[in-house]
Amino acid sequence: MEKIVINGGKPLMGAIEVSGMKNAAVAVILASILIEDRCVLENLPNISDVTTSLDILRAMGANIRRLSPTTVEIDTCSIMGGSAPYDLVRKMRASYYVIGAELGRFGRALAGFPGGCDFGVRPIDQHIKGFEALGATVTVDNGCIEAKADGGLRGGQIYFDNSSVGATINVMIAAARAKGNTVIENAAREPHVVDLANFLNACGAKITGAGTDVIKIKGVERLHGCTYAIIPDMIEAATFMIAAAATHGTLRINNVIPKHLESISAKMEEMGIKIDELDDAVIVSGTDTLSRVNIRTLPYPGFPTDAQPQICVLLCLANGVSTLYEGVWDNRFRYVEELKRMGAKIKVDGRTAIVEGVGALSAAPVRAVDLRAGAAMIVAALATQGRTEIEEIQYIERGYDDIVGKLRGVGADIRKVNIPDPYLYEKAN
Ligand code: EPU
Repeated sequence: MEKIVINGGKPLMGAIEVSGMKNAAVAVILASILIEDRCVLENLPNISDVTTSLDILRAMGANIRRLSPTTVEIDTCSIMGGSAPYDLVRKMRASYYVIGAELGRFGRALAGFPGGCDFGVRPIDQHIKGFEALGATVTVDNGCIEAKADGGLRGGQIYFDNSSVGATINVMIAAARAKGNTVIENAAREPHVVDLANFLNACGAKITGAGTDVIKIKGVERLHGCTYAIIPDMIEAATFMIAAAATHGTLRINNVIPKHLESISAKMEEMGIKIDELDDAVIVSGTDTLSRVNIRTLPYPGFPTDAQPQICVLLCLANGVSTLYEGVWDNRFRYVEELKRMGAKIKVDGRTAIVEGVGALSAAPVRAVDLRAGAAMIVAALATQGRTEIEEIQYIERGYDDIVGKLRGVGADIRKVNIPDPYLYEKAN
């Protein structure tokens, strides 16, 4: 069993590099099914969700060449529709982009139901509504999603009931090669929606308005390959910013787009933390006393839900009582039980966590219950005197590129260890 072991209490100091954004990378990789040509993708993070996305393409017949640790060339000319392996598809949420991309390219799609972290119900009704507006018939049966548009997709008008990132991206992918014009209203405005639109436009698509709540797409018959660099990961950057503040360190976080981090910087400044914005870096200087704040997660440009567990650790270290409202997911507080093992005082009532500042946490064995929960455990352990062991680190590896090596480079005492499972050990002896 692999664990991350941290001897905490050491301030993070120096400079750390942010990798390409997970949620943009997986969308762009799977959207390349639609391109039917060769694309070179740069600044890809080395994480298991990217490996899974590339494995899906390879299994579908794509040719993939790794040109450097962060660059791949993908040729999707000979992809076969309906051939995404079920076992890979159910490993991650973003695999639903296979449906949009197959529909756009072949006029029909078939793939298993997507997996991903467990935050309660994760419906796909808005994706289906979007595909239906483009003329597809969608059925969900036996753990699979099947979509068909006899005569091909045609442009349509879609109003999303909630601004879903996944549905916005999926419909944009499908509509890029539909006949005629599509308008998406109440579209998600997240930076990875914009990144995907920029990628498709670099391949010859005609998409305007990405980054606002109305996106217009003029369908084109064919797309062509391109070379494209993925944007930096704002959530990885936010995790490092919070870790710097939690350890009273001073950290320069390189390769970021400071605009994407504004909601996080604003809340951290409200807590008394100094943030200096440079062109493509931020410098976070921790403070001895952290003030309480109230935070509400919201779709972009609001405070991101994907940084909610990590900021909760800072609230535990602040003076006074803070409230943390989760505005996106039904059940994203499963990590609270783990933080309580470390002495946190948190009461969860529905979508609100009431966090009583306790000054310091204490080391304990904990679990990563999902990806960002795992990141929060790392932040908590870095801030805490003593040895913390984190289990189930496969969740963390889905979304953080070499987090152990990067944090070690800025002074953390952190390592990955392979500890024999005590139960298996007992059985073998
Ligand atoms: N929703 C619906 N119907 C749908 C789709 C979504 O009701 O058809 C609801 C969801 O239940 C949720 C809200 O809309 O309450 C937002 O969901 P969204 O579709 O925006 O989420 P997603 O596309 O499944 C992406 C990220 C998540 C991130 C959310 C919100 C990817 C692969 N995942 O998920 O990232 O939390 O947007 O920003 O892009 C992570 O990186 O740790 C992560 C979970």
